[in-house]
Amino acid sequence: MALLLHPHPFFTFSIIFLSFISSYFCFSVKDPPYNYYHQEAYGYGHYSQAYPSYFTTIEDAKFKEYLIKLMRNEILGCKNVGTISSAKTTVNVDDFGAKGDRSTDDTEAFKKAWQEACSQKGAVLVVPEDKTYRLKPITFSGPCKPNLTVQIHGTLEASDDQSDYKKDGRHWLLFDNVQNLLVEGGGTINGNGRIWWQNSCKIDKSLPCKDAPTALTFYRSKNLMVKNLNIKDSQQIHVSFKKTTNVIASNLMITAPRNSPNTDGIHITATQNIRITSSTIRTGDDCISIVSGSQNVQAEDITCGPGHGISIGSLGDNNSEDYVSGVTVNGAKLSGTTNGVRIKTWQGGSGSASNIKFQNIYMFNVSNPIIIDQNYCDRDEPCKEQNSAVQVKNVVYKNIKGTSATDVAVKFDCSKSHPCQAIVLQNINLQEEGDHTAQAVCNNVDLDEIGFVSPRCPWE
Ligand SMILES: *[C@@H]1O[C@H](CO)[C@@H](O)[C@H](O)[C@H]1NC(C)=O
Ligand SMILES: *[C@@H]1O[C@H](CO)[C@@H](O)[C@H](O)[C@H]1NC(C)=O
Ligand SMILES: *[C@@H]1O[C@H](CO)[C@@H](O)[C@H](O)[C@H]1NC(C)=O
Repeated sequence: MALLLHPHPFFTFSIIFLSFISSYFCFSVKDPPYNYYHQEAYGYGHYSQAYPSYFTTIEDAKFKEYLIKLMRNEILGCKNVGTISSAKTTVNVDDFGAKGDRSTDDTEAFKKAWQEACSQKGAVLVVPEDKTYRLKPITFSGPCKPNLTVQIHGTLEASDDQSDYKKDGRHWLLFDNVQNLLVEGGGTINGNGRIWWQNSCKIDKSLPCKDAPTALTFYRSKNLMVKNLNIKDSQQIHVSFKKTTNVIASNLMITAPRNSPNTDGIHITATQNIRITSSTIRTGDDCISIVSGSQNVQAEDITCGPGHGISIGSLGDNNSEDYVSGVTVNGAKLSGTTNGVRIKTWQGGSGSASNIKFQNIYMFNVSNPIIIDQNYCDRDEPCKEQNSAVQVKNVVYKNIKGTSATDVAVKFDCSKSHPCQAIVLQNINLQEEGDHTAQAVCNNVDLDEIGFVSPRCPWE
């Protein structure tokens, strides 16, 4: 098979990525060489905004089969899943003085428990169930001893005293520089965000615009698995991955009121190799937002709405040079969102958004189901016309069905100076809600339509 003789970078990555997944559960696989391979495959070790774009989407049945087998550990020969080690140290926050009575400030107890867990190989930090721990902002810093697990069974609730956030107004729970971390447990992370929403300039226009904390941030970290958690009512963004590598996020339930401002579900910045699966996100802003420096982002089996939909960008704000490449959204259901799948860039930027695939997506009553907006402008004063733009290229929309809340179901508003290149619509069937024919608006786009496509762009 040619693919094996000349491994494609995506192929190489997938193997590495999956061996990471497998080895996480199967400690018989020693020292997965993903760091080394990762650097070799991508040609950079540190965060770099201006990386070349290697990623292309491959659809090869044998290849897929191979990946699935890898997933099931049939190839790595690792069958003893679930029999992980006997010698794990359990660190319970209650043993460090946490009360979990919803009123006591448990911040210090959590800091001490973290110190302890971080310093022990294979430790498990446990937050007991049926209790609510009130916490001020905390940074869980690494590096730690390998293979730390955080099990959140109970509820973590944010302090809603805004003066507690004076030192760092951007983060509530921050994991910084932690490698090989598993966060799980079925518990709840509650950002208790009401006070922040009320004081947002988007709600009260007389107030100045200020940042609010992200509930859960993973920063400068590698080999992360985050699963089975409820994250709700964040002060602003719910979960952020920033400058992280090799991430699996699955079975997350993220909820906030539809009118809560800037409460993005999952925000991805400068992150490589991230896979988000089987998650439901209902908030007041983007379901998933993917911004500059992110590469190889896969989202599968995602349910969104209400909210603003799945978004790449915004990119190119304030004339910045931004790159995003290798994004696949496969299997999503969006209902009542303001956008479905969106790429948004400001005029005047540079860089690119490339190799993007949106497929197998069902929309119900979405205001802009398919949209590329290269004239994005989120300022009070209108943005003036500029000659540079973030290049949008190689974007495939395949098997997208359902209804639009407006009569324009497909909108490509691309840059005059940098038209969108190699955009493909394949098997698209979008109608206006209530059985009306929808329209497509297409400006400055190099487009191919394959199979049944409705609505179609008017001939240019
Ligand atoms: C940590 O996990 C990796 C796989 O992710 C494994 O190879 C390694 O042996 C583990 N280390 C310890 C100390 O358990
Ligand atoms: C825009 O970019 C310039 C130059 O890089 C910088 O000095 C300025 O602070 C930026 N403005 C905003 C609003 O980010
Ligand atoms: C569709 O969305 C619009 C607003 O976006 C709303 O007014 C309308 O009730 C929704 N229709 C259905 C059938 O949900």
